[in-house]
Amino acid sequence: MTVLRVPGDKSISHRSLMLAALGHGRSRLRGLLRSADVRSTAGVLRALGVAVPSLDLDEVVVEGVGLRGLRAPDAPLDCGNSGTTTRLMAGVVAGAAFTARFVGDASLSARPMRRVAKPLEAMGARVALPAHGGLPMTVHGAALRGVTWHSEVASAQVKSAILLAGMVAGVPVEVHEPAATRDHTERMLRARGVEVRVEGLEVLLQPAGRLDALDMDVPGDPSSAAFFAGLAALGAARTEVALENVGINPGRTGAFEVLRRMGAALRFDGRTEQGGEPVATLVCGPGGLRGTTIEPAEVPSLIDELPLLACVAARADGETRVTGAEELRVKESDRIAAVVGNLRAVGADAEELPDGFVVRGSDRPLAGRVVTHGDHRIAMAFGVLGAVRGNAITVDDPACADVSYPTFWDDLARVRR
Ligand code: S3P
Repeated sequence: MTVLRVPGDKSISHRSLMLAALGHGRSRLRGLLRSADVRSTAGVLRALGVAVPSLDLDEVVVEGVGLRGLRAPDAPLDCGNSGTTTRLMAGVVAGAAFTARFVGDASLSARPMRRVAKPLEAMGARVALPAHGGLPMTVHGAALRGVTWHSEVASAQVKSAILLAGMVAGVPVEVHEPAATRDHTERMLRARGVEVRVEGLEVLLQPAGRLDALDMDVPGDPSSAAFFAGLAALGAARTEVALENVGINPGRTGAFEVLRRMGAALRFDGRTEQGGEPVATLVCGPGGLRGTTIEPAEVPSLIDELPLLACVAARADGETRVTGAEELRVKESDRIAAVVGNLRAVGADAEELPDGFVVRGSDRPLAGRVVTHGDHRIAMAFGVLGAVRGNAITVDDPACADVSYPTFWDDLARVRR
């Protein structure tokens, strides 16, 4: 059995830093992900006057400045490649009632920001966007009013931006989602003394006027663990793999259920709780894999894992079909085009759908060079497929894995056959 601890959850790491910064008093954060994206959040918070120490410490201690304690930045806020940093902090800035300009790399600058601009404007902020709706985005915060917002997209980032804006401004908000998305923000706000109620697909926040400081142990990232669950499912790991301390929030575990449905041997051992989230050791091994249908309703719970699942499907018996996943087109790359283009480039049978893809598996050797478009999850998904015996796949930019999983290639070398 190979035991692996994947790094801290990206979504929870961003939120831990933001909420610690806005908290009343000192928060000790352990297990934070030390990746490029989380460093972007730390950098943005520093630019807003929060003393965030180096993320390379085992324990990152943040002295919260309180809900009204941020100061206007004197330079644009550089969000790098990170959509979560941009969208959640847009909500914070809107509520903080000063002006900030958000910038990022080429990939982030092309991503849709109207989805957060619109609700923040409905609350009374002014948001200036370029014609293509991406970055640079200037958020002019104001004294906001409460809002009831029906979001057209199932996006935890949009939901969280509205919740954070309401919390910082001290106004009630209500968000209706078209489908349930990850609920880390809701859990973390509640644990810090804010009243957040969930009724079906509605989330209601009643401001508390302050946010308690809270120490946090960040669980391992299920989206990172999924690469090794996939590797084991493909029989490309040297032994069974035990992934310790993985977050198993039901909003994040869709890929594990799909892998199991495809025939992988996968179980959760030693379930417990950490940082307000369910965690477990995930034990994974190979199985005779068969294709499956991934339904639109499942998509939010495995949205970031679809590149990996497509790569696993290339080695499964029969067809795998995904629909209702049009959001993939506006991630760090157009992941439908990137996944299908790269699968074909290495000799697999794959086809684009407007809102998903079809992959027909085979066991013929796959070989070629993958173009990541700087997208971390494309790099890692094909890294896993390349580890399957008989395949010869290279990745043009392996270093882009740093966005979410800086030690990915070392861990892969240790776990693969
Ligand atoms: C995230 C939400 C998802 C996900 C992203 C992280 C979050 O994005 O793809 O990697 O931390 O809230 P959307 O909210 O755009 O679906």
